[in-house]
Amino acid sequence: KENIYILGIESSCDDTSAAILCDNRVLSNVVSSQKIHAEYGGVVPELASRAHQQNIVPVVDLALKKANVTKDQLNAIAFTRGPGLMGSLLVGTSFAKSLAFGLNIPLIDVNHMQAHILAHYIAEENQNTPPFPFLALTISGGHTQIVKVNNHFSMEVIGETIDDAVGEAYDKSGKLLGLGYPAGPEIDRRAQLGNPKAYKFTKPKVDGLNFSFSGLKTAILYFVQRETKVSPDFVKTNLNDICASIQYTIIGILMDKLKLAVAQTGIEHIAIGGGVSANSGIRKALKTGEQKFGWTTYIPKFEYTTDNAAMIGIVGYLKYLENDFTDFDVMATARLKI
Ligand code: KG4
Ligand code: ZN
Repeated sequence: KENIYILGIESSCDDTSAAILCDNRVLSNVVSSQKIHAEYGGVVPELASRAHQQNIVPVVDLALKKANVTKDQLNAIAFTRGPGLMGSLLVGTSFAKSLAFGLNIPLIDVNHMQAHILAHYIAEENQNTPPFPFLALTISGGHTQIVKVNNHFSMEVIGETIDDAVGEAYDKSGKLLGLGYPAGPEIDRRAQLGNPKAYKFTKPKVDGLNFSFSGLKTAILYFVQRETKVSPDFVKTNLNDICASIQYTIIGILMDKLKLAVAQTGIEHIAIGGGVSANSGIRKALKTGEQKFGWTTYIPKFEYTTDNAAMIGIVGYLKYLENDFTDFDVMATARLKI
């Protein structure tokens, strides 16, 4: 059987990425993360799309070089159609269309959220792939969902945030504490040095499997204002304990909903994805879930959990096998459901 070469392109937010896959194996996965947004404390859409325009050609070029593959060997081009920032999506979409048209090869559109989940199907040594059906918890700066995955292309969102994403909760809380952007990794680092029960933040009451994180941010704001009035150096002197308490609350929220999802579906295979799956607290909590509740959990390699094109490429490969190609009049779609 002949090998299939896929170029995957991801440009939905602030990472420009290109990957080359040979069947389900990743030959290269180049990610250019835009540094510019740190100065603004968050992603600035206009700057993001401009940076994508500058990055896309060199990033694709480098991915081909690293994989030692020429563009004439490509069988198809897969790209992120959505969801994401419109200006950012347009860059990847237009580029993918033009290149596929020029090379006269099929175009494959990919849903970014499906890709975060199907990243688990990238062939990696010592990495098990979850059996169907499984539950996927996608947690990042842009998303927070629990998805019931019936097979590669049949997925149901059974819970999601009604306001902020969990990564946003980390980043916005960090901002209130004077930490740089993105604050998630720094809160995580400090949390491991602090007392998680030093301060108590109430968990939101949200029905069913949905999440809410905006209340937590407000609670932290009031808490910091109140304590700083009493002692101006409060945040500085208690930063590790504050971070540990915030992390404890967030992990508690995620775990409560996961437990409920397992109870409701009877599915005990749980896969995670998205930038926040790097978090030490969630990783520990999942391990506890394995020991305490008999769950089996799946955590992909870090480079496939944050935004990357390898995950777009693997969906491209799976769709290629199904002859599931896209018309050239396809449009980037900012709001795209799974
Ligand atoms: O998947 P990602 O790279 O980009 C998208 O948002 O799609 O995720 C980035 C998010 C940021 O909000 C960042 O603060 C958070 O992931 N993050 C973490 C950790 N590492 C990254 N949050 C908590 N703990 C971490 N260790
Ligand atoms: Zn993402």
